[in-house]
Order: sequence, then structure tokens, then C-alpha cells
Amino acid sequence: MTINGGQQAAYVEDRMLLVHYLRDVAGLTAANVGCDTSSCGACTVLLDGESVKSCTLLAVQAAGREITTVEGLAGQDGQLHPVQRAFRERHGLQCGFCTPGMVLAIVSLLRENPHPTEDQVRSGLEGNLCRCTGYHNIVQAALAAAGPGDGEAR
Ligand code: FES
Ligand code: FES
Repeated sequence: MTINGGQQAAYVEDRMLLVHYLRDVAGLTAANVGCDTSSCGACTVLLDGESVKSCTLLAVQAAGREITTVEGLAGQDGQLHPVQRAFRERHGLQCGFCTPGMVLAIVSLLRENPHPTEDQVRSGLEGNLCRCTGYHNIVQAALAAAGPGDGEAR
């Protein structure tokens, strides 16, 4: 599979979950495991550009596909992605546990709907839980990243 632009291959047990592959084989630990029930979204990554919960996929199901984790979101020059910048500017994180998943869920949401309403952001993030309950600022960060209609956030 391709992860954050780099190709890699490994033999893994067919029961290995993608999130465990990312954390334990690829060494990318931003995707967190927050539940055993596919309900928290802390493990969200992009699969071929769309957000998925990486605890709901087997690693082998990602064979030949493109994965983006939050480690691969900033530009090569270290420039933060607009959604990352908005999180920083709007205080969109507290403990940070949900943040990688929230950021990627918002990246995916803004690709599908570049200028969502607040309600659309809230419903788009229904699958991502923040145990610090920082939802207000997370939603404000998403709206700030979308901007006032001056072009699509990446
Ligand atoms: Fe994947 Fe909670 S760890 S949804
Ligand atoms: Fe702590 Fe969301 S910032 S879980």
C-alpha cells in the first residue's frame, strides 16, 4: 500500500486491523484506538481520499490503496494543512486524542462539501467523538478551514 506518499509492503496476519498495521508495523501512531466498537473515530484515516475508521478495516483490505494519516498531511516544507492550522488557531484540541481523526474527518468532509453549514459539519462529524467535549471549537475550526467561499480547502 501507499502510506503518506511512500510505498510499503509487508506480510501480515490476515486478521490484522489496519489501525494496528499503521501503529505497530508502519510506526505511525497518530491514529488512535479509542474504542472496541467502531464508534469513536479516533482511528480515522483517509483511504483513497475518503475518511474511514481504520479499526473497521483489515490491513489486507488496504492492499494497493492509498492511505493518508495525519503524519502525512502537512506539506513537504512543513506547512500545516489548512485544517491543522485552523485547529491551532481556533483551539480545536484539548488532550489531542481525538484530533488526528477529527482533522482527517474534516479534510474528507471539506473535499465533499467545501463550504458546509455548521449543521452539516456537526452531522458530518457524528462518527467522531471527543472525550474532552471540545466540539464547539472543533466545529469552528472546520468552518474556519472552509473559509468564506473563497475556494476549496484541500
Ligand atoms: Fe476505531 Fe474507535 S478505535 S472507531
Ligand atoms: Fe481530548 Fe478530543 S481533545 S478527546
